[in-house]
Amino acid sequence: MSVKEITLKILEENKGRVVSGQKIAEEACASRAAVWKAISQLREEGYLISEATNKGYILSLQSDLLSAESIHHFCKDLPKEKIYCFKSLDSTNIKAKQIAAQDGMDLALITSEEQTNGRGRMERNFFSPASSGIYMSLLVKPTFDISKSILVTTAASVAVCRGINSVLGIDCKIKWVNDIFLNGRKIGGILTEGITDVESGQIEHIVIGIGINYSTPVISFPEDIKDIAGSLLNTENEGRYSLSLISSKSRNQLVGVIISELIELLSHLDGNDFLEEYKTRSLILGHQVIFSSQIDGQLCSESGKALDIDLNGGLIILLEDGSMETISTGEVTIRREDGQYSK
Ligand code: BTN
Repeated sequence: MSVKEITLKILEENKGRVVSGQKIAEEACASRAAVWKAISQLREEGYLISEATNKGYILSLQSDLLSAESIHHFCKDLPKEKIYCFKSLDSTNIKAKQIAAQDGMDLALITSEEQTNGRGRMERNFFSPASSGIYMSLLVKPTFDISKSILVTTAASVAVCRGINSVLGIDCKIKWVNDIFLNGRKIGGILTEGITDVESGQIEHIVIGIGINYSTPVISFPEDIKDIAGSLLNTENEGRYSLSLISSKSRNQLVGVIISELIELLSHLDGNDFLEEYKTRSLILGHQVIFSSQIDGQLCSESGKALDIDLNGGLIILLEDGSMETISTGEVTIRREDGQYSK
């Protein structure tokens, strides 16, 4: 590890506390001047590091840039060399595909502080402003039966909810198949894409893109999503959760814990155990819904009651004529108490 990397690791481990330059120099087997240079580089990269005269350096609790070092600290299953943290990207999913094509990697995590072309399902944009969200893509080589690929999104939804719960103590719900909700607002989503090998026609890699509105100010949401979008730490939660507790946590920790959960779930995807948890977190089971489905190549809207999730992650719906339909793609809208349907 370089002096800069060791310095960051020590500061992250002691976030909010003073660490002497001498201690860092000893652990990095470097001179005090080399440590000072590393601190200057880290500041230039945006880390909030202050100096306590004659005492040492402090990484501010407010400093929350994503870094491979810190993420790895919370996710030991992912080697640091396989974590790529960018300041700005068009889309972490696009970058993940490029990395798969160039380096043929079996496992990698790509994060970005902002996305200029963040993408959602149904060709939508995903609003991705700087430093207030989590935008990341996990690139994996599937070791599971590819016919179960919808389960990947299902597993990712559970991993996101578990991570949020274990780091922040906040309980989120899932709207089939990929939307993460808190207090009636969408705070995150998942976009899973396959990369097909041109010669074999087989899916060689899967990219699991996860977007979370972490501290995104609610007033910043664009007009088209402002009535539905929310963010984990904002407005809806003020007074409900201790903000001092939350500020001592970091986006790095949340990313690390979510990815750890996801890697674990992917390794047992064939077991489907997590489906029970998915169902208990479901926003729609037991409710009247409208869903879109393809009939003779045409996109049609139908309504019915969301009954269950099948072993492949498909949604089983009881139609008004008493028949059942299982859908594995498309979008679902829930009927509210006032009889209207909401997203
Ligand atoms: C949705 O809500 O429809 C899915 C949103 C997925 C957004 C994430 S952010 C990281 C990754 N990169 C993207 O361009 N999209 C996904």
